[in-house]
Amino acid sequence: MTLAFSSAPPRESAPAQTPGAETRLAHVLLTIVVPTFNERDNLRELVRRVGATLGPTGWEIIVVDDDSPDGTHALAKSIARRDPRVRCIRRVGRRGLAGACIEGMLASSAPYVAVMDGDLQHDESILPQMLARLRDGGADLAVGSRHVEGGGSGEGFNALRKTISDGAIRLAGLALKTDVRDTMSGFFMIRRDVAEELAPRLCTEGFKILADILATGAGRLRTTEVGYQFRARLAGDSKLDAKVALDFFGLLLHKATRGAAPVGFVSFALVGMSGVFVHFLALWAAHAAGASFVPAQAFATACAIFSNYNLNNLLTYRSARRRGAAWLRGLALFALVCSVSAVANVGVAAWAFEHDQGWALAGLAGVLMGVVWNYAISTKFVWRK
Ligand code: GDD
Ligand code: MN
Repeated sequence: MTLAFSSAPPRESAPAQTPGAETRLAHVLLTIVVPTFNERDNLRELVRRVGATLGPTGWEIIVVDDDSPDGTHALAKSIARRDPRVRCIRRVGRRGLAGACIEGMLASSAPYVAVMDGDLQHDESILPQMLARLRDGGADLAVGSRHVEGGGSGEGFNALRKTISDGAIRLAGLALKTDVRDTMSGFFMIRRDVAEELAPRLCTEGFKILADILATGAGRLRTTEVGYQFRARLAGDSKLDAKVALDFFGLLLHKATRGAAPVGFVSFALVGMSGVFVHFLALWAAHAAGASFVPAQAFATACAIFSNYNLNNLLTYRSARRRGAAWLRGLALFALVCSVSAVANVGVAAWAFEHDQGWALAGLAGVLMGVVWNYAISTKFVWRK
């Protein structure tokens, strides 16, 4: 067998090393996991600032990059060649903040691990204080917090984002049963043995890894908060959007049902609800055009399938999104999956209609029976990764 990558062997001698390079074997007390997606223009400054705060040794940074198109991973590795305190995990074929953080934490062998954003919105200067709180044995988890003394988000958040964030915090406090004020923080430090223990039960989907840790460790985690000012992003754009919000509600439901409801189900069900709207619009139009009930219900179902397929493709299954020819094949497959349930749908609806249930109730009965079936089969076959 021949290996045909490149005839030249990889360079084995390290390029000129910067201070700190001789510390390769030094004891690493703290790993800072930095999840990145398109953070190229922030990385050097981040490493510089962490070094300025923590000193030359005792720490490492693990960049977990989801194959950023801007080449963040390549830059991270070129920094790593000069500075052994920096490592990079490049993940391919996967996307997701929570999953990236978990993999980074599990790649550490230090006694303490922190998670910190790569866009310099989190203030690295509180890292020593967080570490001190864990090292004195009083806490398992230290949260970088905008909602305790010294904390704030003046610069980093606009009014709308702040309102949404405050609402989510209240909701999460109820759902997660924790004293932590800033449950939405993406900035925290945890004992690695605790992280290792919780990891198998954490969700790799979604954005809110801290909320998940708090929920999963509820009642056992000793927590503390350290205030910091959430800064404005140095460069690039935020990746938080509608999908992230949907997944957050999915996570709350997932935890509330003790794992019975999958995280993606909320998104799927909401898309399904929008499908009900499409369905009734089409049903009404067909009714107005003088169609009889059963063909009208079938037509409305087809409209809803088309709309649901596209919304799920954009939101629920974004990381497995189908494009081009795969989009068309996916549509055919989804229509096939749905038409099995649509036969049952129309059957149930027709039966209900014959039993004097009226158009609306009969239509609804048909729609409901399809949702759970559709989710299960779609996840398994249509958007299988
Ligand atoms: N590996 C990986 N994969 N990294 C990601 C992904 C992903 O799919 N999505 C985002 N990131 C990285 C970004 O590159 C950045 O370093 C960090 O995760 C946070 O993403 P932002 O897009 O900057 O999020 P934000 O600023 O809107 O929200 C942040 O602050 C909130 C308030 O504290 C996050 O930390 C949230 O978790 C936090 O709630
Ligand atoms: Mn950010």
